[in-house]
Parts: sequence; structure tokens; C-alpha cells
Amino acid sequence: MADENITLRLARLNEAPVIAAMSRDLIETGLGWSWDSERVSRAIRSRDTAVLVACDRMRVAAFAIMYFGDEHAHLNLLAVRTSHQRRGIGKRMVNWLIESALTAGIATVTLELRAANAGARRFYQTLGFTDAAQIPGYYRGRETALRMSRTLRRANIELPRWSMPSKG
Ligand SMILES: CC(C)(COP(=O)(O)OP(=O)(O)OC[C@H]1O[C@@H](n2cnc3c(N)ncnc32)[C@H](O)[C@@H]1OP(=O)(O)O)[C@@H](O)C(=O)NCCC(=O)NCCS
Repeated sequence: MADENITLRLARLNEAPVIAAMSRDLIETGLGWSWDSERVSRAIRSRDTAVLVACDRMRVAAFAIMYFGDEHAHLNLLAVRTSHQRRGIGKRMVNWLIESALTAGIATVTLELRAANAGARRFYQTLGFTDAAQIPGYYRGRETALRMSRTLRRANIELPRWSMPSKG
């Protein structure tokens, strides 16, 4: 169900602390906190990165961070507050980013999620993402990531396929 009170817009610098706290509590739980306020601020300032927020009146209800390369975009983070989940907000945000990627001429969008996060995997599958690789130890050397991707058009430069680094 679409929510009329939710508006999407680019994040402001003073929203970095709230976005960072949401990353800590909703995404990075148990992994340590890598997307702190300073890192989120850098992403907001970066010309290559879109930091999108969905606001319920004044409150940030969800956010997404996506890096745009020449042909490949990477969805770094996406989280919707528990109180606002299953209201179509995540889907609206991904669709906004995909529209931007299409406009920017992006060929492929990739993302990683914790392999145990079955709900998020299902969510991305409904949005046309498919499994691309399992990456053992991706998170802090101890948790497996699932890489998913969605092709928007044929790429001129192929994404390198991920393979396990050789030891030694
Ligand atoms: C995953 C997440 C972003 C989904 O956002 P959302 O706004 O709740 O999702 P939507 O309401 O747009 O869902 C769209 C569709 O995706 C599917 N879906 C969403 N969440 C799902 C879940 N937990 N289990 C199964 N399917 C799910 C459903 O088909 C849903 O449609 P429906 O509600 O009509 O059945 C949100 O649950 C979240 O922030 N989780 C915590 C952080 C996280 O895991 N982020 C992703 C990894 S970075």
C-alpha cells in the first residue's frame, strides 16, 4: 500500500547522525559500526553518491545510499524503520534509485546483504535482483554476504566476477 505522507528527497548534512544511527541499529547490528556519522556525511557531500531519505513529515523513516560509477552502481545501504516496514517505502526508494540509474546510463546495479537476511533477499528479488555470488567472510571476516545484481542494459565494460582470494 503506497503511503501518501511519505516524501522522498536527497538527505541534508544535518541528517547524517540519524542515518548513521539507523545503519548501526537496523543493518550493522552485531558487526560493529562502520557507517558512522562522518562516513555518512562524506557520502552526502560526494558527487558520485546519492543519499536518499524517505520522510514521514519531519522524521526520517528510511534511507538509502547508492554509489554511481560510469556504468555500474552499487547500493551500499537501505533501511526502513521497523515501524514503517511493509508499507511499500523500500520499494519506492529502490524504484527512485533505479530511475536515476537509468537516467545516468547505468548498466548494472549491485548490492550485498547478510546471507542470513532472508526477508531482504526476498524484497530485492521482488524488485528484479538476482543472486550473483556468495562471499564468505565479507563482513568482518566472519559473516557471509550474498551479492545480488540487476541488469538495466548491456554493459560495455563487464563487471569482474568475484572469486575467493588465493591464500599465501
Ligand atoms: C528489507 C527492507 C528494506 C524492505 O523495506 P520495506 O519498506 O519494508 O519493503 P516494502 O514494503 O517496499 O516491500 C515490497 C515487497 O518486498 C517483499 N518483502 C519486503 N520485506 C519482506 C520480508 N521481510 N519478507 C518477505 N518479503 C518481503 C514483499 O513482497 C513486499 O510486498 P508486500 O508487502 O506487498 O508483500 C526493510 O525490511 C528493512 O529496512 N530491513 C532492515 C534493514 C535491511 O535488512 N536492509 C537491507 C540490507 S542493506
